[in-house]
Amino acid sequence: MTSPLIVVTGATGQLGQTLSRLWNQSPLADFQFKALDRSELDLSQADAAIAVLAALKPSVIVNAAAYTQVDKAETDSIDAHLVNAQAVGRIATWAAENDAKLIHISTDFVFDGTSKTPYQHDQHTNPLGVYGASKLAGEQQIQSVAAQHSAIIRTSWLYSEYGNNFAKTMLRLMGEREQLSVVDDQIGSPSSTNGLAALIFAMIQKDAYRGIYHWCDGASISWYAFAQEIQRQAVQEGLLNKAIPISPISTSEYPTPARRPAYSVLDRTRVMAEFDCPSTDWREQLNLVIKALIVESKAST
Ligand SMILES: NC(=O)c1ccc[n+]([C@@H]2O[C@H](COP(=O)([O-])OP(=O)(O)OC[C@H]3O[C@@H](n4cnc5c(N)ncnc54)[C@H](OP(=O)(O)O)[C@@H]3O)[C@@H](O)[C@H]2O)c1
Repeated sequence: MTSPLIVVTGATGQLGQTLSRLWNQSPLADFQFKALDRSELDLSQADAAIAVLAALKPSVIVNAAAYTQVDKAETDSIDAHLVNAQAVGRIATWAAENDAKLIHISTDFVFDGTSKTPYQHDQHTNPLGVYGASKLAGEQQIQSVAAQHSAIIRTSWLYSEYGNNFAKTMLRLMGEREQLSVVDDQIGSPSSTNGLAALIFAMIQKDAYRGIYHWCDGASISWYAFAQEIQRQAVQEGLLNKAIPISPISTSEYPTPARRPAYSVLDRTRVMAEFDCPSTDWREQLNLVIKALIVESKAST
């Protein structure tokens, strides 16, 4: 008998790359693992994507692919919904019909940010922009067709040593500029892809998941405070050779096409209770990524 297969979509993304890297250290030796990039499984070509799944017959699909360009989505609603909602619905339907499980990643942007305390997984949603609306529509598709077969993990402020993210942008700007201004009135929690990947592996191992889960690294900080800690650690570890002044600014001083929630801390009580969760200290998680970036920069010089 062949081992059950885990298929990951979005192999080239932050989470996709992290899952591939950590797979060998995961507790899932009984599974085969296959991460597919866009050329192998394109969510905007749903019929072809379903044909790929039908050929591979995965037992578990981790949907790490998404239309993630939050600002571009404001003028590209059709594509955002095609990838984040319609394709997700098709995959969820395939999973339900073929007795496969789906672990899907969603976002804090399904909330409007008016809460003053960490968002519960069953709290009222009200996305402020197209990206959040498309991700919420994807969640709803899953829940209508594959509620018994799926987990939706909402996460926030995802970052890693891969791709584009706030931490890497800050580090680049801190190396290039004499000073920096960073938004101080949006509060949330960074989430390292390392921790999220470990949670996904723990879920697959336990094989008992259903519904919506919230995951983050447990901070409740502004982008400005995150930038300060990024710089502090980067200087301490030798990734940056000096610190530059960082000034707090308001969201109104840094306008973007898409509105962001002013508060989006996610309450992770449910995952902590149900799964063997990874390290949960956001500063430690940041330190692992800074150290990985140091290794990467040494390798490229
Ligand atoms: N980044 C965040 O701050 C954040 C916060 C909360 C939740 N999330 C969610 O977390 C998940 C992972 O995010 P991430 O930061 O790892 O994303 P990412 O780095 O932006 O990567 C997105 C991945 O999706 C792929 N993709 C885009 N359109 C596709 C399509 N039509 N067909 C197949 N693949 C496609 C991309 O492929 P290409 O490389 O070919 O473009 C890439 O591999 C997503 O569901 C996202 O919505 C992210």
